[in-house]
Amino acid sequence: MNGCGIAALQGLEPANLENHFRVCALVPESAAVAGPIGGVMHELLERLHQDHKNLDRVLTLLSSQLDHFFAGRESNFDLKIELLEYLETYADLAHHPLEDLIYHAGMKRLSDENTHLLERLLGQHQRLTASTRKFRMSLENILHDGVMSRAELETQGREYVALQRLHLNLEEAEAFPLLDKALTEEDWKEIAAHQPRHDDPVFEKPDQLRFSSLFHYLEKAEEEEEAED
Ligand SMILES: [Fe+2]
Ligand SMILES: [Fe+2]
Repeated sequence: MNGCGIAALQGLEPANLENHFRVCALVPESAAVAGPIGGVMHELLERLHQDHKNLDRVLTLLSSQLDHFFAGRESNFDLKIELLEYLETYADLAHHPLEDLIYHAGMKRLSDENTHLLERLLGQHQRLTASTRKFRMSLENILHDGVMSRAELETQGREYVALQRLHLNLEEAEAFPLLDKALTEEDWKEIAAHQPRHDDPVFEKPDQLRFSSLFHYLEKAEEEEEAED
């Protein structure tokens, strides 16, 4: 362990992440979403798990665009803004609110220690919403020749991707298995009745016009993956 892996990020809040990235410079690729957690979960958790896989693809694309930009290579600003818009539209308005409902239901069923984990995840949702907005505004600032330095933007971008991945992995590895065991059919019915009605504008009901650059790059990434197989 070199102190820069995902384990080293556990417990760090955004303010401390900045120092972490000055030392470690890059987000480790191993921070990618851990993958299926085994067994069949409740359908709402399965849906959130699928969202995580999609979010992981979006974060990988964002990360590689940031690599190009900070290495002085050509990068696509429209794409970066679209990626952040997707996160604001879907992750912050549909994915996190559904998780919030599930976590609040879980807090009535779980021990104090596990309730603390859910409280931490709820707090991260609020910080992620604020960070997504802040990072999108920083990108727009750079695009319009604003005063922000590239170094500042890089710290913010790396920190943002790491916080998103840390969050997804914590949910996949710890929260979802606990909740799948603890929640009753009645709880799930109550959650389903109040869940937010937002379609995913990229992976579910594609909005080709709004996310045209994102579709183009996702298709390209898929073709490259297929060519490698
Ligand atoms: Fe979450
Ligand atoms: Fe999530």
